[in-house]
Amino acid sequence: MRTKIAHDGIKNLHYEIREIVDYGHALQKLGVPITWENIGDPVAAGEHVAPWIKEIVRNLQNDDSTWAYCPSRGVSKTREFLARVASERPGGVKVGPDDILFFNGIADAVDKIYDLIQKDNRVLMPSPSYPTHTSNEGKRGDYPHLQFQLYPKNNWQPDLEEIENKVKYNPQVVAIAIVNPDNPTGAVYPRKTLEAIVAIARKYGLFIICDEIYAHLCYNGAETLHISQVLGDVPALSLRGISKDFPWPGSRCGWIEMLNRDSSAFFREYCDALVKSKMMEVCSTTLPQMAIPAVYGDPRYAALKAERSAMFERRSNQVFEYFRDHVPGTIVRPVQGAFYFCVAFEDGVLNDRQTLPIADPAVKAFVEKSVEGVALDKRFVHYMMASEGVCVTPLTGFHTDILGFRLTTLNPDDAKRARTLERIGDSIRRYLKS
Ligand SMILES: Cc1ncc(COP(=O)(O)O)c(C=O)c1O
Repeated sequence: MRTKIAHDGIKNLHYEIREIVDYGHALQKLGVPITWENIGDPVAAGEHVAPWIKEIVRNLQNDDSTWAYCPSRGVSKTREFLARVASERPGGVKVGPDDILFFNGIADAVDKIYDLIQKDNRVLMPSPSYPTHTSNEGKRGDYPHLQFQLYPKNNWQPDLEEIENKVKYNPQVVAIAIVNPDNPTGAVYPRKTLEAIVAIARKYGLFIICDEIYAHLCYNGAETLHISQVLGDVPALSLRGISKDFPWPGSRCGWIEMLNRDSSAFFREYCDALVKSKMMEVCSTTLPQMAIPAVYGDPRYAALKAERSAMFERRSNQVFEYFRDHVPGTIVRPVQGAFYFCVAFEDGVLNDRQTLPIADPAVKAFVEKSVEGVALDKRFVHYMMASEGVCVTPLTGFHTDILGFRLTTLNPDDAKRARTLERIGDSIRRYLKS
């Protein structure tokens, strides 16, 4: 080639949740069986989609219009339905059908949302953070990420003063991004924290990006509170989808609510650009959009939501109690949402000499090479995968300095999940002593 093609920001593209899969596949080729506890796909993990939802989808595909393109913003009836639901939230911002914009999943929305922000402007986001947000923010320029910390010992909550200071001393910050309930930590922001973040946004003229894909999975005392319910007049994008709800991650169907779109000329211009950019792509997937009013509007949906939240509550408490009672050297807190669990290591317990026994010389050589120069939590994960065959995601893969890992609570088999926990706990105990 006559010149370098890719721009410098690409070095910020990391998605450890899937990158670790390549490593797992390489181990499988060497004969190591792997238990996957890394990817947040409930269906791949074995959850069965409710028969009544399948029936809705089956019936829809008999309608030829579900095979056609739909309007670029999204199917009109579905946007009308979603705008009505959003506007009915107690204390919520009023939302019209044109404030809703469909994408091929939230991941697609995230790509556009960051792409259309001026190159030198920055989005402040949590640490740890869901890598689709951090990578898309990072790829716009060659800057270090601008983040505020979520503190494991404080239930993975942020320090509001730190957020305000980061905004105040970095005038190029135009938005604060949060994921609520959070991936990877499973934390839910209490109302007063959301209100405080909104107040900072209002004071400094920012907008909020709130990824609410797990909004319907709240438990352990937390209740769904949408950003639109605490926003007042502050502009925001709320990101929503059906991947985790129906659950139907393969539908590639998500949408954004552009909240208080007319509160500022700059924000309106930016929202218009999001709509235009979607038009370039014609539209998003049609059939899943058409299923939305039928599924969310079905009287059985409330029961499904309650049942799944209770299920993840029970499982996450089992994981919490196991680590709290059996695995010294780790920091864990009960989680309140989504289906992830983060284990942080206590400061100083990891070093670059720790190992786990690996009998097969080829696997041992492969692992020893793979851990050269990697973060200490990734080193642990690589050893655990090779020695015990359990794949989790190192926490540093979520753009953070906090060492730890994330596992999912998706495995539907209670006994198997309990065994996996034992295997992880046993690996940590042996690794820390090695
Ligand atoms: C916080 C968060 N946002 C977005 C996504 C992706 O959503 P979608 O399937 O709608 O692209 C995920 C997937 O795990 C996620 O955890």
